[in-house]
Amino acid sequence: MSKPRIFVPNRVNEEVIHYLQQYGDVDYRDQEEKMAEEEFLVGLRNASALLCYSRQKINASILEQAPLLKVVSNIAVGYDNLDLGEMTKRGVLATNTPGILTETTADLTFSILMAAARRVAEADYYVKSGQWKEWFPSLMLGKDVFGATIGIIGMGRIGEAVARRAKGFDMNILYYNRSRKTDAEAKLGATFVSLEELLQRSDYVVVLTPLTAETQKFIGVKELALMKKDAILVNASRGATVDETALIHALQEKRIAGAALDVYEKEPVDPENPLLKMANVVTLPHIGSATRETRAKMAMKAARNAIAALQGEIPENLLNKEVL
Ligand code: DGY
Repeated sequence: MSKPRIFVPNRVNEEVIHYLQQYGDVDYRDQEEKMAEEEFLVGLRNASALLCYSRQKINASILEQAPLLKVVSNIAVGYDNLDLGEMTKRGVLATNTPGILTETTADLTFSILMAAARRVAEADYYVKSGQWKEWFPSLMLGKDVFGATIGIIGMGRIGEAVARRAKGFDMNILYYNRSRKTDAEAKLGATFVSLEELLQRSDYVVVLTPLTAETQKFIGVKELALMKKDAILVNASRGATVDETALIHALQEKRIAGAALDVYEKEPVDPENPLLKMANVVTLPHIGSATRETRAKMAMKAARNAIAALQGEIPENLLNKEVL
């Protein structure tokens, strides 16, 4: 019997490829840049499994051209790039990589919060660009993190991991989530509040909710207007959870003090985006889970999910259970 074809259109660790080769014919491209659509579709045509990153959209028109496809294994926890309805209709399993990247993403989220609070990127640029001519008392004054109030929107795994870090900074932890997390309340001293109360009371509003139809532009004009004037918005989920135009206006009109962003409505972000011109906005290129260790584990987990599916088992991280 011929082996199933496993399509890996982008770079992953070598061990992942060796693992996959035990189970199938691996069509691997050791390239970082996103494959051109036509080439991608040629690769997908004979594939039973696809391992891909979250920048790869999988929708009806792509699936139509992949008649043999049994599983799409996302090397990411977020899966807003996958049209689960269409995949289920066609009997294609979808999987993701939760858990593994929790602490790494929480580290990055907390570090951009701190960077915005203490103007780290701005101060670094100030020194490196030769602007530092003398020390004076109000030089790069920032905002306290220790003891301040943090409001976490989306108390999932990463939300809880951020809350653990906040506890170490003696922060007052508020959270808003679809359902109450009594565990997190007991362990971390977090307080469940309404979205309005969270926005009104927090010094740092941290968006960590996954992107779904309900969370599109979850933070918009009305929500930004409720925030304190000296508050900072942190987004490490998906760009589209925040209405970027509304955020730009709020920052331009100084209705909030700053922002720390790892994600944008459109990625890569347009170099002309006004957010990139604002000194009080920390801008990172979607690197929440980007450590060597974590990325290697994510790809291996994605590979294991794909192989389980190809072997007729239920993958550990199956997203569309209805497909069974
Ligand atoms: C994730 O895992 O969802 C990260 O944001 C990378 O896409």
